[in-house]
Amino acid sequence: MIVWTIANQKGGVGKTTTTVTLGGLLAQKKKRVLLVDTDPHASLSYYFGVDSEELSSSVYDVFVASKHLTKDRVLDCLCSTKLDSLFILPATMALATLDRRMGNQNGMGLILKKAMDLIADEFDYVLMDCPPVLGVLMVNALAACRRIIVPVQTEFLALKGLDRMMHTLEIMAKSQQREFDYLIVPTMYDKRVNAAVDAYQTLREHYGDKVWSGVIPVDTRFREASQAQTPPSVFSPRARGVYAYDKLLKHIQSLDKKS
Ligand SMILES: Nc1ncnc2c1ncn2[C@@H]1O[C@H](COP(=O)(O)OP(=O)(O)OP(=O)(O)O)[C@@H](O)[C@H]1O
Ligand SMILES: [Mg+2]
Repeated sequence: MIVWTIANQKGGVGKTTTTVTLGGLLAQKKKRVLLVDTDPHASLSYYFGVDSEELSSSVYDVFVASKHLTKDRVLDCLCSTKLDSLFILPATMALATLDRRMGNQNGMGLILKKAMDLIADEFDYVLMDCPPVLGVLMVNALAACRRIIVPVQTEFLALKGLDRMMHTLEIMAKSQQREFDYLIVPTMYDKRVNAAVDAYQTLREHYGDKVWSGVIPVDTRFREASQAQTPPSVFSPRARGVYAYDKLLKHIQSLDKKS
């Protein structure tokens, strides 16, 4: 099982879109894929038509049952999607209370990792979508993964937000005594807009080969796909945005092979 976490403390940069699109592409390539929604806003869950407030169990229950987790308990929390090999571990609003309820307990940062270890035989890939805030949920998602994908909108303010995310990764690396392999992915790129071109160049100057050499273009098909509650690669396989994510997927897989 390979776990990638999609994270950035800046909101609205394309985290959920990246999770859904990469997950859909992997599932279409016959991989067994689990998408984990760690955002109390549950955008990823809603994307697939899962109404998180009507669920009997969700990722919240994984945290609450953390001391007595079993493989079956974790599998019970999963929901199916329209794609046979694509599953989702949904979020609920209750997740927003986790920091207050459990934030200081020992071992709290490794619960998602423990849960994924239990179901490691069931999936080829796990993609974790993070909320845009640093807290116990993001810490869990970062600790559970092999690689972090950091979507960054190609605009000046989003670059500022990226500094904060990099700082978080440094702190996590120190406290967990391990390296975090990350890849910055420029998103919502519009080559006709000078500010986007400038932001992309600034990214490359500051972060060098930690920035993917491609870009995810602005593509209205993403919004349409979310309205249809279908991964973009299924809704609109020929869309240029889907083509870009497929290139990104191949690049990340080649990085995984090297490491
Ligand atoms: N490449 C793109 N082109 C056009 N629209 C996009 C693109 N990527 C994402 N969007 C749209 O931008 C909005 C924000 O994207 P998304 O929800 O993926 O961001 P996010 O980082 O998950 O946000 P949040 O921090 O609130 O969770 C959505 O409406 C989505 O459909
Ligand atoms: Mg999101």
